[in-house]
Amino acid sequence: MSRDAIAKTEEDKGRIGFKVIRNDHTIENLKYLLELRTIFGCQLPKMPKEYITRLVFDTKHRSLLGFKNKMLVGGITFRPFGNVFAEIAFLAITGNEQVKGYGTRLMNHLKQYCQSIGIFRFLTYADNYAIGYFKKQGFTKTITLPEHEYKGYIKDYDGGTLMECVFRPKIDYLNIPGLIKKQRAAIFDKIKEISNSHIVHKGLDNAKRAKLKRIEDIPGIKDTMHKWKPKTISPDVLLPKLRRVYNIMKHHPDSWPFLEPVDGTQVIDYYEVIKEPIDMQVIEQRLKNGFYRTHHIFMADFRRMFDNCRIYNKPDTEYYKCAENMEARFKEEMLKVEQELKDEMKL
Ligand code: COA
Repeated sequence: MSRDAIAKTEEDKGRIGFKVIRNDHTIENLKYLLELRTIFGCQLPKMPKEYITRLVFDTKHRSLLGFKNKMLVGGITFRPFGNVFAEIAFLAITGNEQVKGYGTRLMNHLKQYCQSIGIFRFLTYADNYAIGYFKKQGFTKTITLPEHEYKGYIKDYDGGTLMECVFRPKIDYLNIPGLIKKQRAAIFDKIKEISNSHIVHKGLDNAKRAKLKRIEDIPGIKDTMHKWKPKTISPDVLLPKLRRVYNIMKHHPDSWPFLEPVDGTQVIDYYEVIKEPIDMQVIEQRLKNGFYRTHHIFMADFRRMFDNCRIYNKPDTEYYKCAENMEARFKEEMLKVEQELKDEMKL
């Protein structure tokens, strides 16, 4: 769960809350603003305290307060400029509550509040340490508002970076996790209409795999055939080429470890280690059955055979070296086959 989602859950449970106030000279609000000023004073040490006080208590500014268990944990002081934009003057979360999602939640509440008063844009001079945070809230350094609309209105800060965030009138910023969940569900539903990828088949055990004659016999493949047809080449063209490579490999001086299945009575733990065994007899059988519809499957079988050998045997063994030599030769031969197939396809 994202931090924002966790903070939302806390808000739903009533542990955290938010409200917008301004200096209306009531004792209650003056107390809150004083507390907020103290948080800003601690968290923004480079900012002169008098300046913070002036803006927080200025009647044109408003402040969004964030509470946790009824205690103030942070806030945003901002000033709306007509319906054009709101300037974020200060923003902070108290030290021991930072990076728990409250800053994001605060910004989302501010977006929602501004939506309600017809403002859809923020401008702020971001402290360089906080640029990363602002970017995550949708702020960019590219300012799309024409300069004459904000120049002279917002306060200039040395050492800060002017950033803008444009947000949408209809997005429910307080329920972004819910929105994403809905969008994911909608995308999955759409994918289900055109794909069976959500159906999980049991897979094949070794016995069934050895008996496989056609690729369509793998559970699930047939269902996809009407939607996806692999580019195939006629077996009359493909199989002689694969047989040719097979024979070269069979007569290779290092083929001896691969010619027959490993004898489990001699190599006791082999089938415990190697869960998908394969050998050249199986490949030969598959060639006879016409199993290979594409050269990729043929290559995958050989690759598995070499990988199995390298998994079971250490690099300094004869077996391991045989796998390396055989594979090098196999790759060479398959490059030739691939070129030939490409030429055939062009014809
Ligand atoms: N730099 C880079 N990324 C930051 C960051 C910073 N200073 N502060 C938070 N983030 C990231 C978080 O890691 C998190 O990323 P994630 O969603 O990928 O995990 C994301 O921003 C939101 O974090 P969140 O927990 O909602 O932020 P917060 O509650 O810590 O509030 C601040 C962010 C900046 C308000 C808070 O850290 C703070 O008060 N800092 C000191 C005062 C300050 O710098 N104010 C801004 C200048 S006006």
